[in-house]
Amino acid sequence: MCGIVAYLGHRQACPIILKGLHRLEYRGYDSAGVALMNDGELNVYKKKGKVAELENYIAEKDTHARVGMGHTRWATHGEPNDTNAHPHYSTSERIAIIHNGIIENYAALKTHLQQQGHEFHSDTDTEVFVNLIEEIQTQNHCNLEEAVRLALHEVVGAYAIVVMSRDAPNQLIAARKGSPMVIGIGDGEFFIASDATPIIEYTNEVVYVNDYEIAIIRDGRLELRSKEDVEQTPYIQKLEMELDSIEKGGYEHFMLKEIFEQPRSIMDSMRGRLEMNAGHLNMGGFRAYEQKFVNAQRIIVVACGTSWHAGLVAEYLLEDLARIPVEVEYASEFRYRNPVITERDIVIAISQSGETADTLAAIELAKSKGATIFGICNVVGSSIARATDAGAYTHAGPEIGVASTKAFTAQVTVLTLLAMLMGQKRGTLTDTKLRELMVELDTIPAKVEQALKLDDEIRNIAAVFCDVPNFLYLGRGYNFPVALEGALKLKEISYIHAEGYPAAEMKHGPIALIDENMPVVVIATRDSSYEKVVSNIQEVKARKGRIIAVVTEGDDVIRNMAEFVIEVPYTSEALVPLVSVIPLQLLSYHIAVMRGCNVDQPRNLAKSVTVE
Ligand code: F6R
Repeated sequence: MCGIVAYLGHRQACPIILKGLHRLEYRGYDSAGVALMNDGELNVYKKKGKVAELENYIAEKDTHARVGMGHTRWATHGEPNDTNAHPHYSTSERIAIIHNGIIENYAALKTHLQQQGHEFHSDTDTEVFVNLIEEIQTQNHCNLEEAVRLALHEVVGAYAIVVMSRDAPNQLIAARKGSPMVIGIGDGEFFIASDATPIIEYTNEVVYVNDYEIAIIRDGRLELRSKEDVEQTPYIQKLEMELDSIEKGGYEHFMLKEIFEQPRSIMDSMRGRLEMNAGHLNMGGFRAYEQKFVNAQRIIVVACGTSWHAGLVAEYLLEDLARIPVEVEYASEFRYRNPVITERDIVIAISQSGETADTLAAIELAKSKGATIFGICNVVGSSIARATDAGAYTHAGPEIGVASTKAFTAQVTVLTLLAMLMGQKRGTLTDTKLRELMVELDTIPAKVEQALKLDDEIRNIAAVFCDVPNFLYLGRGYNFPVALEGALKLKEISYIHAEGYPAAEMKHGPIALIDENMPVVVIATRDSSYEKVVSNIQEVKARKGRIIAVVTEGDDVIRNMAEFVIEVPYTSEALVPLVSVIPLQLLSYHIAVMRGCNVDQPRNLAKSVTVE
């Protein structure tokens, strides 16, 4: 939520910052702004709306500065408008700040600062932050770096900030706690951003700033200091990201590109882990904690949104293959529920971004009770990846579309491998069954490829239903989480109300919704609950519901019952979500496009939810 970017070097800062803001726009897109140091003047330009509007607004302005910073906002305090957009000036307009996060004690600080004569124009907590820095600087007669450091001791909450001052025109000060920040180091130039995407085309040398660190960029060098003012050694890492992985590559939307990338992202997530020739499975993070996994009494999965749906698939997988009890928790509920956690529990935290505030807090809680934490993240070096004891990255590549697609299938792939490994080590999976699953898993990328060929057919179905107000999604067993995920995809990008339900639960309430206008997507692949799902389809049909069924290829039974059937290739029951989710992703994508929705940046959403 909120993207920050800053530049100091020998090039023009503004184009670099604007391009960076476009790349970070997935993090929030209700307003945007830049601050530029033009000949000793600290100028702020900001606008409600997307980065493109800011770009038009500043087109005529003098933007030749070599130092600057920019922000794209997802509103927390104060509605999206020009005034609440970042950067924010201090009262004297000598200092400006951009901020990603939330300052929880801003109200008390604001009252105090008002008493000291500071003026506020916006409703934001960020304006309080910058005035606090100014007040400290005035009171202590100190330099900017010291004032920022002292201010960090007074604010409670989460932040990634960059601060500029008219009095120190060739300097950027940045700091983080709880919100991501990466610094790119080029040849005599420096980049600061919320993630590496604005940096990658200029340098692949980066430093991930840790919580409570302050970065000072001046005189051609980066200095890192702790909040206690102790110098830290920057750990410079090489970025492995490719530029084309963050561009649309000819697709109309990132979401469509990412849906079509799934054969490769699933394969990448298996690479080095599913070793068909050697006939074994391998996962470094698992190996390090193998005994804990073998002796665990329970697994608790914590996650949010689509990652939570992947966690539900994991419940079926782990109970089925490794015979271990699993609880799947919304991180936001778990963290405030005083849950019972012991040292023999393993907590699996799933997060694409690795920055979700609730998931991070759930991890900290479980850690404090002695549980072992295993992370499944997509973003390398992210906060959650660093907060866990061990883990496995999904190698989906950057996911830019706000609606998660390839991250989900990559998560399910890694969770499947984990369940297979646990089953093997706990002796609950026979060698024959394990081998069968390995052979089948190896075929999944090709089967996903085949499912993607249904794109035209699904577009035609989308055209029939794009104007309806409601949808119901039903599935059983492994396809129940898929039903939830299908409904979430549709509602978040098309704004059609959609509910996902376990098919048998329909009788306990939702069946009342069914009439001749209600489209019901039923995931009815050939598996152990097939016959039961067929009965559920009959129940919908008897009430004239309009059935769209996702079935295993060659299914003539359901063809005779449903208005539309979408045939996906057969796979083993435990692997079916990897294939059955594909048509649902495509269906929601096409419906959203037909409704004229902004598929990649749906209203009110942000990709990385760093506030609770
Ligand atoms: C839905 C979606 C969200 C995220 C959720 C968790 O398409 O993208 O529901 O899944 O915000 O995010 P991560 O996985 O980054 O923790």
